Order: sequence, then structure tokens, then C-alpha cells
Amino acid sequence: MTRTVYLNGDYLPETEAKVSIFDRAFLMADGVYEVTSVLDSKLIDFDGHAKRLKRSLNALHMDMPMTRDDLLGIHRELVRANDLENGMIYLQITRGAPGDRDFVFPDPETCPQTVVLFTQSKPDLADSPAAKKGIKVVSIDDIRWGRRDIKSVQLLYPSMGKMMAKAQGADDAWMVEDGFVTEGTSNNAYFIKDNKIITRGLSNDILHGITRAAVLRFAAEAQMDVEERNFTIEEAQSADEAFITSATTFVMPVVAIDGKALGNGTPGPRAARLREIYLDESCKAAI
Ligand code: PDD
Repeated sequence: MTRTVYLNGDYLPETEAKVSIFDRAFLMADGVYEVTSVLDSKLIDFDGHAKRLKRSLNALHMDMPMTRDDLLGIHRELVRANDLENGMIYLQITRGAPGDRDFVFPDPETCPQTVVLFTQSKPDLADSPAAKKGIKVVSIDDIRWGRRDIKSVQLLYPSMGKMMAKAQGADDAWMVEDGFVTEGTSNNAYFIKDNKIITRGLSNDILHGITRAAVLRFAAEAQMDVEERNFTIEEAQSADEAFITSATTFVMPVVAIDGKALGNGTPGPRAARLREIYLDESCKAAI
């Protein structure tokens, strides 16, 4: 099926949506993105993603090109036009396409931003086989730039990280800097020890996950404490359980870290419970 996508004010068949070769995202990765999941044709945590989008844009001296309501309208129209039940909406805003390649930012008055949104269907998003089995992660060095709190489209290293994990027979990688885990290639990282969830605190070192914020809010409902602090791979390996969070994986149990199985190597009860609570509460609040 040909998807309907959004490009700069128009809804188009995906084959007709064209972006200039001078677009700064193409030449310089000069753009930001968001991924919002869709369950039962409703948007999960839309406002969290819209707020972070504005924050990422502002950090790169770009303005939000439309109101929150207009943005919501586009998301909803894409869900409707593509008959999307479960999956996600990808949004990207770039600094636009000036006539030439130039390191200097173009004048936003004469160079409008490029705004693109498209859907991806994933029927088993909530009922994921991976969540029942758990995933294996390996550690890799974190060599990304220093503003990981900005959701920028420069994703080459995270993409390479995922390939390094695959080459070792694992599913994903946790990145390590100065001896401490920062985050997963496209998710936040956690372990559980003695009924306490431990995850790195917020700073420029990691993306401030929208799912992270929700899961930490729901921890009390699962009768669990939260501690935000640095942790090592060795500490996580000796944990009772571990998991990752993101808009597309929700709460995903981790069953092995660098080849060491956690517990009996199957998803633990607490991560499973957190996933259940997250899905229940998020679906209730979805718009
Ligand atoms: N990734 N950390 C990184 C580096 C990420 O790329 C992501 C999201 C997260 C989790 O953020 P959130 O809970 O807001 O999705 C953490 C998205 C899903 C992606 O790139 O596809």
C-alpha cells in the first residue's frame, strides 16, 4: 500500500514527496526528530513528544513551525489516511534547503524549515514477541557528541552500535562513557536491584526519554523505588532484572548483558509488571 505522508503542508503519496538535495539534514544532519507510538489508532504521550520537539528545536536555534494543535491535527490525519492501528509516527524538522552548501545557518526568513511526517505500521507493537523473550545487550564505547539531550537526526553511531550488537549475536548495545552506562542506542537503560529501579540521571549525556519520565512516575504504582545515578555494566550484570524504555519498545526486559544472563535468563516479574502498567496507563491517556 502506498502511504500518505506529510511534507511542508501537503499530504502526498510517499512516492511523490520529494526533498531538495540542498536540505541541511541531508548535507549536515541539521535537523531534529520525534517518534510517537500509536496504539488502537491513538497517540501515546503526544504532548511529551511535542514539548521535547520544541526543546530540541530551540537548543539548535530553530522555532517550532506550528502550534501544538496543528501538529496534533497532522498526526491524526496521518493515522486516519493510512488506517493506522498500531505503529508509529516519525516526524522530522530540518533547517531547510538553502541554495548552496554553507556551514553558516541560513536566514529562517528566506529559508523555510522542512517538515516531514510519515507512519510505520507495526501490528504487534504492544503484543511484542521480543517482550516475552527479553533482549540481550552488549556494551560499547559511547563516542557520540556532547548534546545527546537534543533529539538530532545524527544517528550514524547509534546505527553502527546496533550493528556491533548484531555482530555479537545480541539485540542492542548499551553505551559506556568514563566507566558508566549512558543509555541504549535508541532507548534508556535501567536495572532493578532489591525492588529499586536504578537509571542514570538527566543531563546532556542522555536523551530525556518521554517513556522514561512516564515509567518513573508509574514506579510507585508497582511498589518500587527509583534511584537516578550513574551505574556500571558490572553492577547491572549483578542485578535482579534489567530493561530498556523507548516510544517503540515501551518497557522491554533485558535478559543478558555482555553474555552474562540476569536471573534465570528470562524476563523478570517486575519489568513485566512495569510494562503492563505503562501500557494500561498510556493507553488510557492516549489521544
Ligand atoms: N529513540 N535514548 C535515545 C538515544 C533514543 O534515541 C531514544 C528514542 C530514547 C528513548 O526516548 P523516548 O522514550 O522518548 O522514545 C532514549 C527513538 C524511539 C528512535 O530513535 O526511534
